[in-house]
Amino acid sequence: MYQKLKKWLNKFAFGYKIGFFTKVFGCQQNEFDIERVKEFLVNVGFISTDKIEEAGLIVINTCAVRHSAEDKIFGYMGELKKIKNSNPNVFIIILGCMTQQKHIKERILKSYPHVDLILGTSFDEFSKIFKDFNLSYLPKNECKNKSRALISIISGCNNFCSYCIVPFVRGRERSKDINEILEKVNTLIKSNCKDITLLGQNVNSYGNDFIDSNINFSVLLNEINKIKGDYRLRFMTSHPKDFSDELIHAIKNNKYMCNHIHLPFQSGSNKILNLMNRKYTREKYLEIINKIKFYLPNFFITGDVIVGFPGENEDDFGQTLSLIKEVNFISVFSFIYSPRKHTFAYNLKDTTTRECKIKRMQEFIEIQRKITERKLNELLDKEFRVLIENHEDNFLTGRLDNNLTVKIKNTKETNSKEFYFVRINKIEKNSLFGEFVNS
Ligand code: SAH
Ligand code: SF4
Ligand code: F3S
Repeated sequence: MYQKLKKWLNKFAFGYKIGFFTKVFGCQQNEFDIERVKEFLVNVGFISTDKIEEAGLIVINTCAVRHSAEDKIFGYMGELKKIKNSNPNVFIIILGCMTQQKHIKERILKSYPHVDLILGTSFDEFSKIFKDFNLSYLPKNECKNKSRALISIISGCNNFCSYCIVPFVRGRERSKDINEILEKVNTLIKSNCKDITLLGQNVNSYGNDFIDSNINFSVLLNEINKIKGDYRLRFMTSHPKDFSDELIHAIKNNKYMCNHIHLPFQSGSNKILNLMNRKYTREKYLEIINKIKFYLPNFFITGDVIVGFPGENEDDFGQTLSLIKEVNFISVFSFIYSPRKHTFAYNLKDTTTRECKIKRMQEFIEIQRKITERKLNELLDKEFRVLIENHEDNFLTGRLDNNLTVKIKNTKETNSKEFYFVRINKIEKNSLFGEFVNS
């Protein structure tokens, strides 16, 4: 397959300016990875384009977390066939979590011959094969011109939650060097970046893989917060089993921290949490939430839940409902359980019907919708700091410190590298609307 790339590069890439188009499925980790791919391709001489029909090179980054994600990607790959038919010179590369799996690679080779190169989650592998063809790579300042940035602080996952494919496609936890992270944050802040997200499947276990070191996630937050500037700092995702008192205090004592914590719970039933291998109980989860509410009172809490895990009965599901009522999440990402090959749960007996799972999901969504509506209404007439992210005709979209977004009437010249104050003046279908506060 590398030979195919070599041939293509020799035939088309040298001496021409080739446009490349990228498409990303999945989580922020994948967004981070595609940013690196884009930066790399620009550095070796390709030109980024938003128009797939104008591209000579197409790079797709894939997700495998649920069956529905894979279905969507296979659908998209089918669409790419038309592009290839109309332009046989286009080169198609598929990367990411989905193609890290052997059985998927084989399926693509067999049924999607218009895909030219299949790689997995390793950026090093991606960059190496281009470099092997003597495309000189001169890293430029990757941080320029961004008002928001993602920084991966730990990759992989050691937790093996029994439903989850991530540890199989992303490997074991590897923390990045603290000095490298600090340098990156420093460069970003100097270039006027305003919103930085520290990324990892479980950021709380940052540093666990360092030998003989006291560095952990709280220490990292403390160190970053020593860097002065006009910015805000976020992180995701946290795992409740590692959400320590030390971390709560590090968040409380550092002024650049955003008032948002994403803390997936997955289920409110101890029986199911145990089957999921989550390593905490409902009581432990609620204890953390109560500490957050006490020490970090104006924080916004979001979560993830899986509905219809094998063995979940009406009583277990009832405990999930009672948990969300007790916590009062601002929002919850909810997923119907999807069996994933290789995982422990794949072999668990599942007697709940699909209809029943859908019914539970609908009930969940309706209850959480009301909680969200009530929580959002508390924001009416209040003022918040926002960073502008998008301009669309008459409206701008801005992000609050608590990670909610607001649509703002376009009445002012704005710049995405400054904070503005906005008053929330309307809430419609769980969307916030606001106006600039005169200052
Ligand atoms: N590392 C993060 C995110 C993992 S994937 C964490 O541990 O929270 C994001 C979410 O997808 C998970 O929190 C979970 O709710 C959901 N998810 C993961 N595997 C799933 C599966 N097999 N079926 C349904 N939902 C799943
Ligand atoms: Fe998956 Fe669990 Fe790791 Fe999150 S912590 S990535 S859910 S195994
Ligand atoms: Fe993310 Fe999907 Fe991979 S959620 S880590 S892109 S399996």
